[in-house]
Amino acid sequence: MKKDLLTLRNLNRDEVLGLIDRALVIKKSGKGTERPLSGFSLGLMFDKTSTRTRVSFETAMGRLGGQTIFLSRKDTQMSRDELVQDTARVLSRYLDVLAIRTYSQELVEEMARWADIPVINALTDRYHPCQILSDLVTIKEKKGTLNDLKVVWIGDGNNVAHSWINAARILGFELVLACPQGYYPEPDVLEGSAGNIRVVEDPAEAARDAHVINTDVWASMGQDEEKDQRLLDFQGFQVNESLVGLARPDVLVMHCLPAHRGEEISADVLEGPHSVVFDQAENKMHLHQALLEKLLVE
Ligand code: CP
Ligand code: NVA
Repeated sequence: MKKDLLTLRNLNRDEVLGLIDRALVIKKSGKGTERPLSGFSLGLMFDKTSTRTRVSFETAMGRLGGQTIFLSRKDTQMSRDELVQDTARVLSRYLDVLAIRTYSQELVEEMARWADIPVINALTDRYHPCQILSDLVTIKEKKGTLNDLKVVWIGDGNNVAHSWINAARILGFELVLACPQGYYPEPDVLEGSAGNIRVVEDPAEAARDAHVINTDVWASMGQDEEKDQRLLDFQGFQVNESLVGLARPDVLVMHCLPAHRGEEISADVLEGPHSVVFDQAENKMHLHQALLEKLLVE
């Protein structure tokens, strides 16, 4: 049966750990010589802009010997009301796997229901599962383990935060999210989570003794009109030297990028010794290679 990655909840603990370890093996082996996906096609259907996700998926597919077809959704007949159910079945006749970046999680889920091929969520307003998988690769690479870690999220309870919550549910690490009032994660994403996941309003309380500090933009794609209000509401939630100083001396500072220096993160921290943001960006490619292998070859 085909397997989708619509949210991290589609994976169990062993699958998550297996993907992380495989991505690290792939990273060590460089470009490799095997091309197990020769003749396979990946569709990338995007409604939102992307630098990392698009290029890392395309490069990963190329390293596996396959090809990628990029589709801006507005250039497809979906923009003239062709139904998801027709689009999904047509694309399934051409492609072997489809990754979608869009606003609505429901659209990705509906596409997966109708498609005969694996569907990957390449970011929705609700989740960004591939990002967190590759960020876990970076943590494992730097720390050697994913056990006994305090992972902290500072900022908006957004799509990336939601996927961190899912990861903490699956792997059991401590996750403390510091979010301003009104910007908490969605209650149903938190619902039923265990004591290893907490939301607080004080960034300092969250950052204390952290092994990992994560942040993301204050206004995500699709929220541009809220930007001015958000700039006010997120005052005090910047990841800067004084916040990082509360964490463990070997803390990793992470950001999925793109970043806004001087807003959610100070320029000195982003460029400083704790920052692993460019390793994170690289590891997206290795993780995507591991993921495509898993969905198409295993
Ligand atoms: N982190 C991330 O998903 O980056 P892009 O928006 O550039 O794909
Ligand atoms: N939360 C951000 C993540 C970008 C990779 C957004 O959705 O725009």
